[in-house]
Amino acid sequence: MIKVEGLTKRYARTVAVDNITFEVEKGEIVGFLGPNGAGKTTTMRVLTCFLPPTAGTASVAGFDVLEKPLEVKKHIGYLPETPPLYPEMEVDEYLRFTGKLKGISGSDIDRRVDEVTGRCAIGDVRNKLIGKLSKGYRQRVGLAQAIIHNPDVLILDEPTSGLDPKQIIEIRELLKSLAGDHTIILSTHILSEVEHSCQRVIIINQGKLVAIDSVDNLTNRLRGSEAVAIEVEAANGRPNPTEVQQRLEQVAGVSRVVMRNSKDSRLSFEVESLQGRHIRADLARTVVQSGWNLSELKAVGLSLEDIFLQLTAGEEKARQENSVEAVTVSQEGAQQ
Ligand SMILES: Nc1ncnc2c1ncn2[C@@H]1O[C@H](COP(=O)(O)OP(=O)(O)OP(=O)(O)O)[C@@H](O)[C@H]1O
Ligand SMILES: [Mg+2]
Repeated sequence: MIKVEGLTKRYARTVAVDNITFEVEKGEIVGFLGPNGAGKTTTMRVLTCFLPPTAGTASVAGFDVLEKPLEVKKHIGYLPETPPLYPEMEVDEYLRFTGKLKGISGSDIDRRVDEVTGRCAIGDVRNKLIGKLSKGYRQRVGLAQAIIHNPDVLILDEPTSGLDPKQIIEIRELLKSLAGDHTIILSTHILSEVEHSCQRVIIINQGKLVAIDSVDNLTNRLRGSEAVAIEVEAANGRPNPTEVQQRLEQVAGVSRVVMRNSKDSRLSFEVESLQGRHIRADLARTVVQSGWNLSELKAVGLSLEDIFLQLTAGEEKARQENSVEAVTVSQEGAQQ
């Protein structure tokens, strides 16, 4: 339903979106995650034909954003970061106005306005001025204008930003009720948002795509097993990498050992546990009992936040921030 290939968008010297490729299938809800300035809004503006791409292609419902912008717009409902509301209009009047702009004919407009006010639970404010609505209600009116022409695809830029927890839950429920009929991409900074609403996550950072995966895959990987970064040092000279790897692999509960780095006398590995196993203590014991020094041992990737930070903050920075356990154990220290 949405196809993005090698998409790049530059603003003067800033590369806001850098060669990203992804697809979204019909009926999917996909979360678009990334820190401030990652390029989420820019990507959404290209998809909604507000900005032309610098390079690459994007298409919605089979229509290219550059070649068939009118067709693309017919198929898309867009909720920008700041909803395009007119404070001096009443809700009903505004929805009729946007409906007409989107080509809904006079005979259908009443039906569509009734439908979206019901779906977005704004029936009780239909005759209120938009300027007098609370933020949550405004956001719902923003959503109502996005779906008034019953588009196949919804592109929602931070639909829950600035809302209170109750409003967030209501919007989340609304999105769930829209899923299936509609293909939805929503951007957010809130990880739990993605866990609750989305089947897949696209993570971007500094314009680059860093991960696309199902929420289940990400969370299973995190919740079920433990990933540990470990750094081993020989007391005299360099430990033999193969030997260290084999010893680590033999520790009970370890499923996988990958060597990450070898620098001077230090070797770093990433070790993953089997489901539900805790391996840090045994790893530390094995290293020390083998006559090596353990210069670092820390958990990696224990939550969606950890993955997000790791993917978006760069490995080095994430290592510093996530360093819950960075220990140096000397042989004597461990034997006491
Ligand atoms: N109109 C513009 N002119 C110049 N640079 C821009 C413009 N709009 C965005 N940028 C830059 O492009 C990059 C991506 O911005 P974008 O708004 O797409 O990020 P975002 O992921 O939506 O961030 P946020 O989470 O803060 O909304 C940033 O470095 C931003 O400063
Ligand atoms: Mg943005």
